[in-house]
Amino acid sequence: MQKLEVFGSSKLKGSISISGSKNASLPILAATLLSNEKVYLKNLPKVKDIETMINLLQSLGSITKYKNKELIVNNFKQNKKFASYNLVKTMRAGILVLGPLLAKFGDAKVSLPGGCAIGTRPVDIHLKSLSKLGVRYKIFQGYVHATAPKGLIGSKVHFSKISVGATENLIIAASLAKGTTTLNNCAIEPEIKDLVNFLKKLGCNIKWTAKRSLKIIGVQKVKEITYSIMFDRIEAGTYLIAAAATEGNLKIKNIKTSIIKTEINILRKIGAKVTVKKDEIQIIGNKNIKGINIKTAPYPGFPTDLQAQLMVLLCKANRKSLIKEDIFENRFMHVSELNRMGAQISIRGNKALVPGKIKFAPAELMATDLRASVSLILAALSAKGKSIINRIYHLDRGYENLEKKLKKVGAKIKRIN
Ligand code: EPZ
Repeated sequence: MQKLEVFGSSKLKGSISISGSKNASLPILAATLLSNEKVYLKNLPKVKDIETMINLLQSLGSITKYKNKELIVNNFKQNKKFASYNLVKTMRAGILVLGPLLAKFGDAKVSLPGGCAIGTRPVDIHLKSLSKLGVRYKIFQGYVHATAPKGLIGSKVHFSKISVGATENLIIAASLAKGTTTLNNCAIEPEIKDLVNFLKKLGCNIKWTAKRSLKIIGVQKVKEITYSIMFDRIEAGTYLIAAAATEGNLKIKNIKTSIIKTEINILRKIGAKVTVKKDEIQIIGNKNIKGINIKTAPYPGFPTDLQAQLMVLLCKANRKSLIKEDIFENRFMHVSELNRMGAQISIRGNKALVPGKIKFAPAELMATDLRASVSLILAALSAKGKSIINRIYHLDRGYENLEKKLKKVGAKIKRIN
């Protein structure tokens, strides 16, 4: 098992270029199944989850090839409809192939994703919403067996709860359904907007009719296109918080600042000096970090994927903070590890009380999930001495060249086998 060795404390200084978005790439890769033409994708991040999704597409019969940083996906011979457990179990977004397979073939057998450290990750909203389009399904031996005998028929769908994945599955499925589909109470994360832009470029007929409503008129054919994936706003937020947490001075490049207004406002409220241009941010950390009360929420609220990272920053604040995790039922796995570094955080239900005024002590740590792992690195960068972080395969799922990017701005970090 590989580990990371981090020598703190370091003030991060310099500039970091942000990679393509993992969470925009995954639904867009699934959506390539709608096409029998070639699809050229640029700016895909080189992370494990993307590799897993590409392997899943290949297992379905897609032909994929990287050619000078561009992924070419060729589905004209793609004819399999079985997404196996061994590929879906490590990457829950595998369920996103269900919609396109049903749209294309009218039947599919896709492994249930199963739970993970942060929650049970159910897909009931995906399935109930697909059944509105004429899909019949049963769950048997850990798989969803789904059919649409008359093909997908456009219909009205109102999501019972805001769900990124369910919104994505339905957008993709409805794109080839017969007739018109309206989707209400959609998630509106920027990654979903990116998926819609991709599908529109592909030739699908999709329109936002209200803040959380879409109208989709099914099409028969789609085109051969090239598409460049948006930047990873969670990676950008992670490095912004890293600069604030280490009293550093970082320039974050290759971003669209209008998409991360919430994060910028919170960092300013905490006391960081943030200068914003259209596609880059300069952030200067402050010794005096102010405590705040915050809750995670669907976009445009504060993202749950930055909750662990922000918690590390708030541990150093000059007064206590309260963090409420309103999206996932078990997303405080990083707390016990941070407490081993002296954080003294207490949890009551979905609320974490962060006392602040902490000086992190180095320790040997255990990563539990993707975003928790990176929060341990941020804490280790602030602790004077050597920390070790185990199970860093979690990290490799979603951060491209993490050590390289951190080393370039002064972090003393290395991977050890
Ligand atoms: C996406 O997960 C992201 N993953 C997550 O990022 C992110 O944390 C999450 O959205 C929320 O923003 C990808 O985009 C690949 P949801 P998803 O459906 O789609 C419940 C990361 O670190 N729910 O919006 O699974 C669910 O249990 C990952 O990059 C149901 O009850 O999130 C959760 O409590 C972690 N039934 C809430 O809704 C369903 O059918 C939000 O889940 C679906 C979801």
